[in-house]
Amino acid sequence: MTTAQGSVPSVDALLASVDASFESSTRRLCDFLRIPSVSTDPSYDAETRRCADWLVNELRAIGFEAEAAKTIGHPMVVAHHPGVGPDAAKRPRILYYGHYDVQPADPLELWKSPPFEPVIVDGPRGKRVVARGAVDDKGQVMGIVEALRAWHALAGGPPCPVTLMIEGEEESGSRSLEPFMHASKERLAADVCVVSDTGMWDVATPAITTRLRGLVYMEVTVHGPSRDLHSGMYGGAVPNPINVLARILSELHDKDRRVTIPGFYDGVSELPADTKAQWESLGFSDAEFLGDIGLSQGFGETGRSTLERTWSRPTCDVNGISGGYEGKGAKTVIAAHATAKVSFRLVSRQDPERIAAAFKQFVEARLPAGCRAEFESHGANPAIEVSESSRYLGAAEKGLARVFGKPALRIGTGGSIPAVGAIGRILGMDSLLVGFGLDDDCVHSPNEKFELACYQNAIRSHAAMLAEFAALAR
Ligand code: BES
Ligand code: MN
Ligand code: MN
Repeated sequence: MTTAQGSVPSVDALLASVDASFESSTRRLCDFLRIPSVSTDPSYDAETRRCADWLVNELRAIGFEAEAAKTIGHPMVVAHHPGVGPDAAKRPRILYYGHYDVQPADPLELWKSPPFEPVIVDGPRGKRVVARGAVDDKGQVMGIVEALRAWHALAGGPPCPVTLMIEGEEESGSRSLEPFMHASKERLAADVCVVSDTGMWDVATPAITTRLRGLVYMEVTVHGPSRDLHSGMYGGAVPNPINVLARILSELHDKDRRVTIPGFYDGVSELPADTKAQWESLGFSDAEFLGDIGLSQGFGETGRSTLERTWSRPTCDVNGISGGYEGKGAKTVIAAHATAKVSFRLVSRQDPERIAAAFKQFVEARLPAGCRAEFESHGANPAIEVSESSRYLGAAEKGLARVFGKPALRIGTGGSIPAVGAIGRILGMDSLLVGFGLDDDCVHSPNEKFELACYQNAIRSHAAMLAEFAALAR
């Protein structure tokens, strides 16, 4: 079915090719999922490397020049194809971003099947693949790769110059990303970046994400007495770091669940009326969103809807807390230290550095004599709002409408993708966030899954969107 090199195949032919090869696309996704690329844990370093090499081989097989580029951390998979035919150079250059690393799988005992042994099981929406990374982000990366495979099969390659930058450290702080981008600006030059690492509205309704929250993540340790103490001999007469830390953390929110850190809301703007109205028209179901996680009532800043709370308001959450005796039974002890991991999701123009500094001050100001605090930063990224007037967004919407038979919705997300900010700042281009996950995919949780219907539509959509991008002159 290969057409002459350089002539553009019809979208129908592309979609038919995607559908005809879907079983092998699923097999390849399972091969990808079998490699435990847990970037945060050094004991998986060799596997993470093997995962990058696996992806490089897949990209070479569809005509890309690809390598697992060395970085200060895990390798960066970079691949390039100049596009097929004499017209390709006149068409927009597309950069795709995604990540091949995954979150740790623990707690292992809660998985119904081993996290790195993908299985295809039946669910209410048809078949799904269950494995760590199924949707975040290996399934979505394969959505791009398999779409490029269809273009390779039908036209000998993509219609535009295409570059891929697939990182191996997204889930662990993206340490190498910015240095890599600074050093590789020419290689990564493009007109738009397409990111597939977010969600859809529902299984039948595509979405383009136009707002991402930022993230400041701090670890704080409160130190008190010079050693662990008998809680009877010393209790009541010395500062207990766990008590102190717990009190400070409890003061981070007021009775309306607003964050009490001075200056925290600087730069937060109210949602424009038209955006608010558009969100209200989406028909978001609290019952479904909360029911899926065993809750019947939302909880958060007073007077805000669930969508506002997650898409447009900043937050503060304790993600982990430790100290003292955590073993079985009782031990009467006053611990010398206590630690908490605290994250802030940011919106609008909140300044990550100022918030990190204000949090430190907030803690310091509340320490009793005899205690000191130590801080470690695990990242600070601002919120992102994507331009809604770009012609690439229009082209992506056309491609999505073709596949789904209805328009894509413009949505926000509560999650963060630090790369998007860096791509704008360092490479000087806008990102287009087109994702295929669902809220109940168990991202970062046990039994992560990707609906095969979503996977297939991801491949189809990327194939169709590329045709629409190619139809734009550069
Ligand atoms: N793909 C997610 C971000 C995401 C999650 C977007 C849900 C839309 C819906 C990404 O891999 C992620 O997990 N990001 C982290 C930030 C990172 C610095 C660890 C996050 O949002 O916690
Ligand atoms: Mn992700
Ligand atoms: Mn993630």
